[in-house]
Amino acid sequence: MDINAVEPSENTPAGGVSAAQPRMPRNIVVGVGGGIAAYKACHLVREFTEHGDDVRVVPTQAALNFVGAATFEALSGNPVSTTVFDAVDEVQHVQVGQEADLVVIAPATADLIARLVAGRADDLLTATVLVATCPVVVVPAMHTEMWLNPATQDNVATLRRRGIVVMEPAHGRLTGKDTGPGRLPEPVQIADFARTIVAGHGAHHDWVGKRVVISAGGTQENIDPVRYIGNRSSGRQGFAIAELAAQRGAEVTLVAASTDSLPVPCGTTVVRVGSTREMEAAMAEYGAGADVIVMSAAVADFRPDSQADSKLKKGADEDALSTIHLVENPDILKGLVNRRDRGELKDGAIIVGFAAETGDAAGSALDYALSKFERKGCDILMANEVGEGKVFGQKTNEGWLLAKGAEPQAVPSGTKFEVAAQILDAVNRIMPK
Ligand code: CTP
Repeated sequence: MDINAVEPSENTPAGGVSAAQPRMPRNIVVGVGGGIAAYKACHLVREFTEHGDDVRVVPTQAALNFVGAATFEALSGNPVSTTVFDAVDEVQHVQVGQEADLVVIAPATADLIARLVAGRADDLLTATVLVATCPVVVVPAMHTEMWLNPATQDNVATLRRRGIVVMEPAHGRLTGKDTGPGRLPEPVQIADFARTIVAGHGAHHDWVGKRVVISAGGTQENIDPVRYIGNRSSGRQGFAIAELAAQRGAEVTLVAASTDSLPVPCGTTVVRVGSTREMEAAMAEYGAGADVIVMSAAVADFRPDSQADSKLKKGADEDALSTIHLVENPDILKGLVNRRDRGELKDGAIIVGFAAETGDAAGSALDYALSKFERKGCDILMANEVGEGKVFGQKTNEGWLLAKGAEPQAVPSGTKFEVAAQILDAVNRIMPK
């Protein structure tokens, strides 16, 4: 496998965003359909404008029942119209779509999706989509029954077949008392996802039928009911991988430790665990039938040899608190590779590991990553250089992608979504189709 073939070089970093060169603002059209989630489009506009992009909001007439044009104009700094009969002298009905680098429609109602499928051009938003040659991302939001209705599902399949990217909706509380799939993802999730699409990653719904199991976060080992040994992993990298794998159409299980504050990635099932041994059991159970297994969790290598049932007291339990005896935890990644080698996992399952490394006098972070890759026996290793404020708890990531038979591929600093997209692209190249 040659993972250098299509990865961005050091000069064309993930997402086209370079720390050294200021990026060009993008022309982004935010289309807004007439659903209660239209209010979240205000936050989405902010996500883009704060990133330096030029945003043009194009609501449907129905969307203005929920949020006024003045709000969108103030937030975007651009005029707002719904009809092809405004600014006729500027030929607005084609100009907006022609100039766009990205069109994101959030929320997209069932009715708006049906109109897009029909190729209607009776308002500015549908006319803009017909004209646009840039990526178009449709973010549905509706009641579960409407989402699951075969009419909507057929319409979504049609849009995907035509190259329009349709995001999987989130699962959760809807407008009434009901709960289920159909909720608009959080604006930050939409913006992160849309940026990876503009960067050319994973636009296809090409992992339908694939099962992906991902560990994320940091495991914690209890000392007593209130104290634990843990680490600084935020879990963001694993959550980004889960989100993108689900958006590619895979069935995703996310085995998550200490990540309660992160929004659940759309279309994934989250299994919460605490300790390393709980994570090991969950990965064994859910990994058994998986096509892809990703160990992105920061696993606590050691645990106290015993855990107190009640809180240790400073005076009375001085010995237990001042000297904690540790025993080694299982290596979950190594265990999964061994199980695959014994034929206990799905044939051809791809296993991805991570390495958090710092360099020292004896070797660079990359040297240590290469020897870890050898030791662990996984198919792909994403090696992060950590320390000096890098990676742990941060919103960006950087390092190298290592794959068997290929030169290490530098992954320049990018958001965890951009890095996740590159990891999935590397997996995709070796995955049996
Ligand atoms: N890992 C694991 N089980 C462990 C320790 C690590 O499955 N007990 C996995 C991590 O999820 C990661 C990879 O192994 O995918 C490397 O983790 P890292 O912390 O970098 O390395 P360690 O194996 O812990 O080795 P060391 O800390 O000595 O560098």
